[in-house]
Amino acid sequence: LEVLGRKKDLVGKRVVVTAGPTVEQIDSVRFISNPSTGKMGFAIAEAAVERGADVTLVTGPVALTDARGAKMVRVSTAREMKAAVDESFPSADIAVFSAAVSDFRPRTAFDRKLKKGVDDEALSRIELVENPDILASCGASKRAGQVVVGFAAETNDVIDNALSKLSRKKADFIVANDVSRGQGFGADSDEVTFVSASGEQHLPELGKRELADRILDKALEFLKLGLE
Ligand code: CTP
Ligand code: CA
Repeated sequence: LEVLGRKKDLVGKRVVVTAGPTVEQIDSVRFISNPSTGKMGFAIAEAAVERGADVTLVTGPVALTDARGAKMVRVSTAREMKAAVDESFPSADIAVFSAAVSDFRPRTAFDRKLKKGVDDEALSRIELVENPDILASCGASKRAGQVVVGFAAETNDVIDNALSKLSRKKADFIVANDVSRGQGFGADSDEVTFVSASGEQHLPELGKRELADRILDKALEFLKLGLE
């Protein structure tokens, strides 16, 4: 059975994953976003499918082809991503929030191109409003038996920041990543620390696919604890 891959230990489980950046329109030709490639989230979705889960992958705009076997929901904005997650989260057993959600969006999205000399006021002063925190809202509505996994890419005080996100967003554990030397966005491997209420677990540098399986292993541990 080994040649067929990993044990199907997620059969009957529903997994929802967020991935990629969100894109927040300023006008019809400009936007606010970030360089997230979506690789981590897609790797998690694909690993969960292989392990037998029923997987929904909610992704912002990325250059990746559909995760084979997953229900794909492609969105642009943080608010669209939240709406899609709100549909799948209530019936999910495991939710993994790997998306790089834009924290703020322009208050007004102009449906035409803003022009120099005409719209200087609007172009020079783009007013921003905060986007909903998708992980925090799921964490707040989490019921017994659901496992919520967050990410934290930090340049400093990595563990402290991850711990504060753990409690603020009511996640079961946070995948903390030190991006102070520029790694993280677009990389094919990561060296992360799992941060939970019961302590820290530092992992060696792993390829995204191996890391995806470690994250699912850890989530499954929490799921079993919750079901005891
Ligand atoms: N997240 C989310 N919705 C948001 C912002 C973040 O679901 N609007 C999730 C991310 O997907 C990630 C976790 O929250 O799993 C942490 O994201 P991060 O950007 O590191 O945290 P913030 O709370 O936005 O804090 P900051 O960017 O200031 O570090
Ligand atoms: Ca953020």
